[in-house]
Amino acid sequence: VRVFVTGSTGHLGSAVVPDLLSVGHQVVGLTRTESGATALAALGAEPLLATLDDLDTLRAAARAADGVVHLAFRHDLLRTGGYARAVADDLTVVRALGAELAGKVFVGTSGTGAAATPGVPVTEDDPKPDAAPRGEAENTVLRLAATGVRSAVVRLPPVVHSTLDRHGFVPTLIATARATGVSGYLGEGANRWPACHTLDAARVYRLALEQAPAGSRLAVVGDEGIAFRRIAEAIGQGLALPVEPVAGERADQHFGFLGGLVPADLPASGDRTRQLLGWRPEHPGLLADLAAGHYFR
Ligand SMILES: NC(=O)c1ccc[n+]([C@@H]2O[C@H](COP(=O)([O-])OP(=O)(O)OC[C@H]3O[C@@H](n4cnc5c(N)ncnc54)[C@H](OP(=O)(O)O)[C@@H]3O)[C@@H](O)[C@H]2O)c1
Repeated sequence: VRVFVTGSTGHLGSAVVPDLLSVGHQVVGLTRTESGATALAALGAEPLLATLDDLDTLRAAARAADGVVHLAFRHDLLRTGGYARAVADDLTVVRALGAELAGKVFVGTSGTGAAATPGVPVTEDDPKPDAAPRGEAENTVLRLAATGVRSAVVRLPPVVHSTLDRHGFVPTLIATARATGVSGYLGEGANRWPACHTLDAARVYRLALEQAPAGSRLAVVGDEGIAFRRIAEAIGQGLALPVEPVAGERADQHFGFLGGLVPADLPASGDRTRQLLGWRPEHPGLLADLAAGHYFR
């Protein structure tokens, strides 16, 4: 089918686009840059040069496609405190695309997020409140099902890892450790972060496009929850740096914009997604991927 992919040149997009093409789908990929367009064309995709602000262009691309995979997100705003703006822009784009897709497919992106019950892994059955991070966009995607769109939302864990990961949270933590000379954690570091491999996530996007029932919440979970201290230890080992607790009052100073997230306990399950799509992770887990060394070269 003909698929319009936003964020087609990013970390996830650079795995999703080849996966879609590999089974014969046609891809139109959104990018703002000539270099992005060149890379997309080299893969065999059709580039569309536009920005997320060009809503008329996005609407026309959605109308001309059989389905949309929406990955673009204004990460450039995150590091400068512009998260609310990025979220608001995302909601605008989701609404614009969704309005064009009756009788077609829309696969959106969200995060696994916080547990509904503290300590208990969040599942696909747990709805996200509108007020949760990216909750309103997730719920907007799901509600499109009532307008005849076969819509699904893919919840990604905070860590998506592989050799394609250049500026996600793991490279950010590694850069922090290099800059401070310490691979830090907060408290006991017993809080858990879930993770998945980029190539496993890409497969879930394709399967969602091909077969997810309307209104599906999907979660790409390889590791359900790794104690943050284990992640800090793997980074310390990779960089030959000491692994040490950071005082809570220094969290933001040490970890920058990740200061609030580092101590969060975020276990997540993706069992329903595995059953629904007949999918299982095939690629290494986070600690094995860190031990492979590519993050530190
Ligand atoms: N990576 C992770 O670990 C992770 C974890 C959880 C959730 N997610 C979510 O997964 C999705 C994909 O993330 P990613 O890591 O692949 O992103 P990324 O590597 O930061 O790439 C961002 C993509 O969005 C496009 N983009 C950004 N601003 C744009 C704008 N103003 N107009 C048009 N396109 C724009 C970029 O296209 P051009 O630069 O080519 O224009 C690029 O393709 C996002 O929703 C992200 O929040 C990612």
